[in-house]
Amino acid sequence: VLALGAQAQAFPAPGKTFTLIVPFSAGGPTDKVARDLAEALRKPLGGATIVIDNAAGAGSTIGTAKAFRAPPDGYTLLVTHVGMATTPALYRKLPYVVDEFEFAGLINEVPMVVVGKPTLEANNFKELTAWIAQNKGKVNMANAGLGSASHLCGLMLQQALKTEMTTVPYKGTAPAMTDLMGGQVDFMCDQTTNTTSQVEGKKIKAYAVSTPKRLTQPAVYKDLPTLDEAGLKGFNVSIWHGLYAPKGTPAAVVKTLNDALKVALKDPDFIKKEEGLGAIVVNDARANSAEHKKFVQAEVAKWGPVIKAAGQYAD
Ligand code: MLT
Repeated sequence: VLALGAQAQAFPAPGKTFTLIVPFSAGGPTDKVARDLAEALRKPLGGATIVIDNAAGAGSTIGTAKAFRAPPDGYTLLVTHVGMATTPALYRKLPYVVDEFEFAGLINEVPMVVVGKPTLEANNFKELTAWIAQNKGKVNMANAGLGSASHLCGLMLQQALKTEMTTVPYKGTAPAMTDLMGGQVDFMCDQTTNTTSQVEGKKIKAYAVSTPKRLTQPAVYKDLPTLDEAGLKGFNVSIWHGLYAPKGTPAAVVKTLNDALKVALKDPDFIKKEEGLGAIVVNDARANSAEHKKFVQAEVAKWGPVIKAAGQYAD
């Protein structure tokens, strides 16, 4: 009996279900990465069942806090993005400590694009900035709450354009996109994983990309200027996603999760889906846990001062 009792619980135990917490609405870019990743993780996790839990709200902090408090057994994980690095500067009473998560690996980098409602009377970025200036105080920009990628990019845009706008927060950029296509909001900065099909379908207008270099794929963006080219010198925002486990998850379990992630990141279907939407899947070197933690800490150090300078606090 002692031998049996002493035998470490195999991980993952057969028949157990994994939950991936996504801190934004279903159908948005974070959810898209998580669902595609879940598909690629099933096999390396021994044919596991993986369910997605969209715990949205408060700019990703509700879902991130839920993951932080989850049982540290490796079966409840979190997929989130740059919000892990911006929320410490935005929320004075944050219900989690970034460094105390277990870092199960970085997943991808996703460009952002400035997109507008179909009826917006601006057909390029220059006209968009003129339209914003002419409609000072009446412009509605959508985002997914303080802590979202769309908030961060929008904040940088407002600072660069030296203008104030009304920001309309949603529980994710999936619902924001619905209102943008309907004209209820004027424009937003969103990830290409969420904008590409709408831009290709001419349901929204696209103006400029947030990366230092123009996007060659998806082809629909190839003629768009970068925001840096369009006059916002040094503008460079790209959104990364990572996989996290609750504090206290055993190191051996985190290692198994990170090994499974590295297999998933080489899954041809996963890569095809990601690259088809403009995202870049990270390589093994960047995906390992130690690198992931170091990268997030550098991002906290990078975005903290930018956000503090904007003086925007969520609580
Ligand atoms: C964001 O702006 O942070 C994301 O687009 C939110 C989401 O995944 O819906």
